[in-house]
Amino acid sequence: MDTTHTINFIDVEHGRQSHKIYQDQTLFELECERIFARCWLFLTHECAIPNYGDFVTTRMGTDEVIVMRQKDNSIKAFLNVCRHRGARLCAVEAGNARGFACNYHGWAYGADGSLLSVPFENEIYQKRLDKCKNGLHEIGKVESYHGFVYGCFDTDAPNLKEYLGDFAWYLDLWMEAGGGIELVGPPARCFIEANWKAPSENFVGDAYHVGWTHASALRSGQSGFAGMAGNNVLPPAGAGLQVTTQHGHGIGALYDVYAGVHDNELSEELMAWGVAKEQVLKDKIGPIRARLYRSHLNGTIFPNTSFLTGSGVFKVWQPHGPKKTEVLTWAMVEKDMPPDMKERISRSVQRTFGIAGYWETEDNDNMESETHMGRGFMAGKKMLNSQMGISGDRQDPDYPGIVGDSAVGETSYRGYYRFYNALIQSSNWEEVNARSNDWVNELITARPEK
Ligand code: FES
Ligand SMILES: [Fe+2]
Repeated sequence: MDTTHTINFIDVEHGRQSHKIYQDQTLFELECERIFARCWLFLTHECAIPNYGDFVTTRMGTDEVIVMRQKDNSIKAFLNVCRHRGARLCAVEAGNARGFACNYHGWAYGADGSLLSVPFENEIYQKRLDKCKNGLHEIGKVESYHGFVYGCFDTDAPNLKEYLGDFAWYLDLWMEAGGGIELVGPPARCFIEANWKAPSENFVGDAYHVGWTHASALRSGQSGFAGMAGNNVLPPAGAGLQVTTQHGHGIGALYDVYAGVHDNELSEELMAWGVAKEQVLKDKIGPIRARLYRSHLNGTIFPNTSFLTGSGVFKVWQPHGPKKTEVLTWAMVEKDMPPDMKERISRSVQRTFGIAGYWETEDNDNMESETHMGRGFMAGKKMLNSQMGISGDRQDPDYPGIVGDSAVGETSYRGYYRFYNALIQSSNWEEVNARSNDWVNELITARPEK
C-alpha cells in the first residue's frame, strides 16, 4: 500500500498530529494492516476461561476471533470464520464447548480448531477433501501476562514480554505485585461514534481534562476526587508524573490516591486497603514502586487496551471503522480482596465508566466531537497539539522509559504517536525496530515548531 499520503499525519519532532488521524478511511485500512495485524492485542483474561472448552469470542482489529482453553491447559485463538464459505462460526459471547458446528452447512470443528466432520463427506466430496488442510485459521501467537491473554497475528513480532518492554516494570506493580488481578465480566459493551485512538490517547495520558470535563461528576458528591473539580485546581508540582516507553505504552500517575472515582465510603476503605498493602510491598518491590502501587495510574497498552488502577477500570477500544468504536468495560479487582469489596467496586465501575456511567458519558461527548470535527475540509488540513511539557521530557534512573515531571502533561501522548508513526511507516517489524533505534532522543529533543 502506498504510504506517502501518511507522511504528514504525525509530526514527532514538534509533538503534533493531523486532525485527519481520526477520520481518514485509507489510514484506517493501513492501521488494520500495520497496527492491528502486527501488534499484540488483548483477547481475554485467564479467569474468564479457566477450564477445558471454556471460550470467549472477541475481536482483533476488524477480525472476529474465538479464544479457547485447550485440553492441555494452553490457550488457542482462531478466526471465528468457517473454512467452507466463511460464515460466522460462533455467535455467542462466551460458553463451554467441545467444538463448533457451522450454522450454514454443518462443518464441525474441535476445540483445537481441527475440522472433524463434514456432512456427506464421502458422498459429495469423493474423498478428495483434505480435512487436515481445512482446520480453523489459528492466530499466530497467543501469550499470557499475569493472566492477561494477548494474541498477535504477526509471527515476526517480538514476544509479548519484549513487546511490553520497559512498561512491564509498571504493569507488574498492579498486575502481579499486589497479589494478582481478576477482571469481573462479562464486559459491558457499547458503541461510540469515535475513532479508537481518541479514547486510547485520553487514557494514555490525559489528566488535563479531569477537573474540567468531569466537573459535574466530581461535584456530584459521589467521588473521592471531588476536590479536583473546576479549572482552578491543578495538582501541585510533584503530585505525579507521566511515562512513555518504546512501544508506545504509557501511564500518568497521581501519587498516593488509590481510591479512584468511587464514592466517599468506598474510597476511604480502598485508601486504607492501599496504604496497608503498600507497607508490605515496600520490602518486596521497594518504596518507589510500592508508592506507585497505591497511586492512581491511567494508562494504555498500545494500541487499544486501557486501565485506571485505583478506579478499577479496564477497557478495550475495538475499531469497527474510523468513526465507530466498540467499548468493552470490565471492573478490575485484586484477587485477595473480600468478596463484598469486589462486588462494590464492580458496581461502582459500571456506575462511573460503564455504558451509561456518568464519567463515561462525559468523556464520550469529547471523543465523538474530536473525531467528527476532523471531517471539516479545512479542519482536516490542520495539526493538533500535544506539546504540553515538551521540553521537559527526560530519562530518570528510578523510572524506566521517558518521564515527564507532572501529573498533567502530554509526554505519553507523544510517545504513543511516535510509535504509531513508526508502525504506520514500516512494512515489517524489522523496519519498525530500525525506526525506533533513536526513539529516546527523538522524544527528548522534540520542541514546538518555531
Ligand atoms: S459456510 Fe460453514 S459449513 Fe458452509
Ligand atoms: Fe475522562
